[in-house]
Amino acid sequence: MNFPITRPRRLRQNENFRRLIRETKLSVDDLIMPLFIVPGSRVTNPISSMPGIAQLSVDRAVDECKAIRDLGIPGVILFGIPDHKDAVGSDAYNDSGIIQTALRAIKEQVPGLLLMTDVCFCEYTDHGHCGIIKGQDVDNDATLEILVKESVSHARAGADMVAPSDMMDGRIGAIREALDSEGFSHLPILAYSAKFASGFYGPFREAAESTPQFGDRRSYQMDPPNAEEALREVELDIAEGADIVMVKPALPYLDIIRRVKEQFGYPVAAYNVSGEYAMIKAAALNGWLDEQRVMMEALIGIKRAGADMILTYFAKDAAKLLR
Ligand code: PBG
Repeated sequence: MNFPITRPRRLRQNENFRRLIRETKLSVDDLIMPLFIVPGSRVTNPISSMPGIAQLSVDRAVDECKAIRDLGIPGVILFGIPDHKDAVGSDAYNDSGIIQTALRAIKEQVPGLLLMTDVCFCEYTDHGHCGIIKGQDVDNDATLEILVKESVSHARAGADMVAPSDMMDGRIGAIREALDSEGFSHLPILAYSAKFASGFYGPFREAAESTPQFGDRRSYQMDPPNAEEALREVELDIAEGADIVMVKPALPYLDIIRRVKEQFGYPVAAYNVSGEYAMIKAAALNGWLDEQRVMMEALIGIKRAGADMILTYFAKDAAKLLR
């Protein structure tokens, strides 16, 4: 492997050589588009910190889902923002709640698209935390009871997969057991297994109107410096019945994606979160970065790290380029 015998540049000299030796390929098959659903009709509410993304009423979400399906994207993940918020987030498990209504409408009008739902309470509670508050903190075991109700309600309304993002201990097992006993043993769980307490969720909290009214999420989401703990979280979720495990955010946690993939060999999802999207958009709007190029580079990087699928607000843009 000595110069001048070996010259790696030989295979870089034109795009056809580069295509032949390209190791990682991004495909539309890898993408999942998140959508924010609000009450009302004909509502498109742009989110200022996420240019190109808007809160949508159910009718508009149906149209958006048709466009997403027609681009060949396999699925969407739905986040609901209810009219009515209360201490226990009761709209989350109301069979006529915002997500349940959206699920029924999309299922009927856009067959052939996988519908995943974020299972959590921060969008539904008046205090903005991901579960039931006791004292100054979220009560783990009380929250499990309502997470279970939320999951079953989503399943009944037509969800194809549920994705718990609350980070309570024991939730995957509790949800699995409830789904099984309600006749949904075929329904997979996408577990937000290694979800870090991240500043990169900032724009999402505008989009989902879910900023905590006091404190933060550090008593349930993971501490960013921890990798071994992330592997333990993944191990627990797999033992409890997770079908796909997720690392979130993606770009600052590529090492975790790689280690999870290598250690468990399970399907791995990565969430390219709102702040990662906003950074690229903001720089591009300033003319500081080439948006399409860095978007594709970021998504390929997440894939190269070991992700099988990527939840990303860029899903439509990337799908258009990949066609
Ligand atoms: C919680 C949830 C959050 C995100 C997905 N599910 C926010 C949070 O934990 O505060 C963040 C996604 C993003 O930033 O794009 N329901």
